[in-house]
Amino acid sequence: MSQLLYEGKAKKMYTTDDPYVLRVVYKNDATAFNGQKKASFEGKGRLNNAICTKIFTMLQGKGIPTHYIDTISETEQLVKAVHIVPIEVVVRNVVAGSLSKRLGVDEGETLERTIVEFYYKSDELGDPMINSDHALAMELATEEELAEIRRFALSVNDALRAFFDAAGIVLVDFKIEFGKLKETGALVLADEISPDSCRLWDKETHEKLDKDVFRRNIADLPETYEKLLKRLEDVK
Ligand code: TMP
Repeated sequence: MSQLLYEGKAKKMYTTDDPYVLRVVYKNDATAFNGQKKASFEGKGRLNNAICTKIFTMLQGKGIPTHYIDTISETEQLVKAVHIVPIEVVVRNVVAGSLSKRLGVDEGETLERTIVEFYYKSDELGDPMINSDHALAMELATEEELAEIRRFALSVNDALRAFFDAAGIVLVDFKIEFGKLKETGALVLADEISPDSCRLWDKETHEKLDKDVFRRNIADLPETYEKLLKRLEDVK
């Protein structure tokens, strides 16, 4: 018996016969600006599933624990069940998006130091930015967990940067989420890493290879994601 456990903007999660294993289905829907802009694109679920599979497999190969178990169809993965830590972690190498607006710095400026930001995961509130004190006072995570999350986020950044660099792509920024395994309580990388949750620019031309093409009406989303997948397939 498989029951729908949760439906998000881009994925659905189903139970399996194993209480510690869930099935994720990648949907064709795309949203932006906290769901205010919506569309559906044939092939998006397949593309994000393939891209995320490639990334999680690469990260696990580098010793970074993730919830990922296996890819079982064009649009489905099996993952370990977790309790999601309600913090969205954004890592930035180059100024773009909300950072550019907030600090009045041009998009494209390389940061002297990588920035790690925390946002409180709440659709109702539009995911407000928080600092560690807010996270602790709201009991979203413990001090040890926050330190581990920060370390983890920086090692994911190192691994992803090298991976995309090999494909001629700059990792501008990305958002990740963490979870505590239902089975053991261990902290692992959860959710997804895909062009929905990263900014990826061609190294030479700065062509955007991520969801900004949809957010800003720049190019066709499936064509863009297909181009990205092709380039990642060439990376060993
Ligand atoms: P931002 O510049 O809009 O704050 O976005 C930073 C990065 O986080 C960018 O790669 C897109 C990603 N992101 C998400 O994955 N989900 C979100 O809800 C938001 C706001 C950003």
